[in-house]
Amino acid sequence: MNEKITLNKLRLLIAKSLGVQADQVFLEYCQNLEHGDLTTNYAMRQAKSIGASPMELAAEMAIKLQADGEVSTYFETIEPVKPGFVNFRFNKNVLAKLLSDSLEPTLDPTPKKAIVEFSSPNIAKPFSIGHLRSTIIGAAIANLLMKIGWSVTRDNHLGDWGTQFGKLIVAIGKWGNIDEIRRSQNPIKLLLDLYVKFHAEEEGDPTLSDMARARFSDLERGEQKAREIWSFCVEVSKREFASHYSELGVEFDTEYGEQFYEDKIPKVLEILKEKGILKIGEEGAQIVEFENEKYPPLMILKKDGSTLYATRDLAADRWRLDNYGPDTLIINEVGVEQSLYFKQLYEVEKVLGWVKDGQRIHIAHGHYRLPEGKMSTRKGTVIFLDDVLREAEAKAASLAKEAVQLTDYDGARDDGDRITWRNQIAISAIKWSDLKRDPITDIVFDWDEILSMKGNSGPYMLYTVVRSRSILGKTDKNPEAPTDESLIESNLVRLMIRYPDIILRSALSYSPSLLAGYLFQLATEFNSFYDQNRIIGSDNERELLSIVKNVGDIVEDGLNLLGIKVPDKM
Ligand code: ARG
Repeated sequence: MNEKITLNKLRLLIAKSLGVQADQVFLEYCQNLEHGDLTTNYAMRQAKSIGASPMELAAEMAIKLQADGEVSTYFETIEPVKPGFVNFRFNKNVLAKLLSDSLEPTLDPTPKKAIVEFSSPNIAKPFSIGHLRSTIIGAAIANLLMKIGWSVTRDNHLGDWGTQFGKLIVAIGKWGNIDEIRRSQNPIKLLLDLYVKFHAEEEGDPTLSDMARARFSDLERGEQKAREIWSFCVEVSKREFASHYSELGVEFDTEYGEQFYEDKIPKVLEILKEKGILKIGEEGAQIVEFENEKYPPLMILKKDGSTLYATRDLAADRWRLDNYGPDTLIINEVGVEQSLYFKQLYEVEKVLGWVKDGQRIHIAHGHYRLPEGKMSTRKGTVIFLDDVLREAEAKAASLAKEAVQLTDYDGARDDGDRITWRNQIAISAIKWSDLKRDPITDIVFDWDEILSMKGNSGPYMLYTVVRSRSILGKTDKNPEAPTDESLIESNLVRLMIRYPDIILRSALSYSPSLLAGYLFQLATEFNSFYDQNRIIGSDNERELLSIVKNVGDIVEDGLNLLGIKVPDKM
């Protein structure tokens, strides 16, 4: 048994043995470990067409599979189970083999090329918690896809163009002083104040909106003063974002931003015109309408000829498909409030024949809400990432001190060490609190919840790895692959062997939370294993050490995929 055993291989083998089409057979790990390792619902799905009861068919299948020499080399038991599943339990040799391969990823047999676009904050506004979710979830998805062999470009689609710059230029002209802003310690804060002021004043003075539109139009035409202010905003914002990304350990391959596509817009307008789908809408704007009014019309050009968010997205996608290849998947990790917009955008791209079904993917997440309602930059009711990070670090520091038996916090070599631990613990808390949940639900912002350090939390996960390392550090003995039956057949091992499949499924379903759920289950199982077994000095110490090491490696590898780094001590 040298070749890697994958679920897909077993599935093909089972289909062959049953003499049926492989794509009719689904094989997956049992939800409940007590039910076995693998299960197929083939009988339940096919019984009707054959005119048998699911249970009869399942029983027949089990007999056939047991009698097949090749299939039965893998399994200890193959059983029909009510109401019509066939469940499989791996034999000891297979478990041992899967265990030794547990850190080797199962690659996607049909790997794709993808652009994962995430984070995408807006220039001239502080990085708020609003863009944090996209940053955390998007980075994890990109890591997962790379792990299964996809070729991925991580793009930060910065919001560096649009009417908001018109507003800012007006506000600076009316109430600000660009030189003062330049000299300030915190220019983004001043820019935000101006932005908020603009919206407050605009309520009583609608001419401000017209002025802003005109100024954006100037900017698009390349008017020098407008461009200067714009470049300055981009520069200070990018500097601030870069420091957050480095603290969060998030990297991008490209950071084009909306403005990058400005000179690529005429070509797209040409294409839209050729296809005859650009219409003049009410009030002179140019729009695209959808068949049967499936969606509301999408505006492409304002009546003064200015471009919109959608115009720039179309130009971006055309350029991406030209540059990376026509089959490239384009994934946008953006909040759920833009769902309708992305449906409209994808529909236009489909009508234009640019993309096939499933080639454009919107991964939507819900938002942090304040107990009193939605956060809004315009109203100045936002929580800034900076505050979250500092607050998390303060909490992490006290946690680190509390856990002195593991931490040499006060006796750390230097401040650098303390800062690193504190930072890693804080970041783990923030990222885990996001990744452990289904992204689509909104989260009511609560400091204790997001910075949770106990239970199903980032620090608990780090602690699991650190504990594994510290056990290994207590002995000179080397780990040795287990042969002991009760160990190999334990629930802990049966859970460990699922790791490659979990990665594959989390990646293909763009669901880091699936991986997080698994890692938490594994950590919990490991911690109770540790409580029940004496390891150091036991008869099978080396085998137990091997399990301890393997769990630590899996959890650390999984956390890395989720963008969480493990400190060497805690
Ligand atoms: N900057 C935008 C925002 O904050 C998100 C950009 C999403 N990506 C895109 N291709 N439209 O709302």
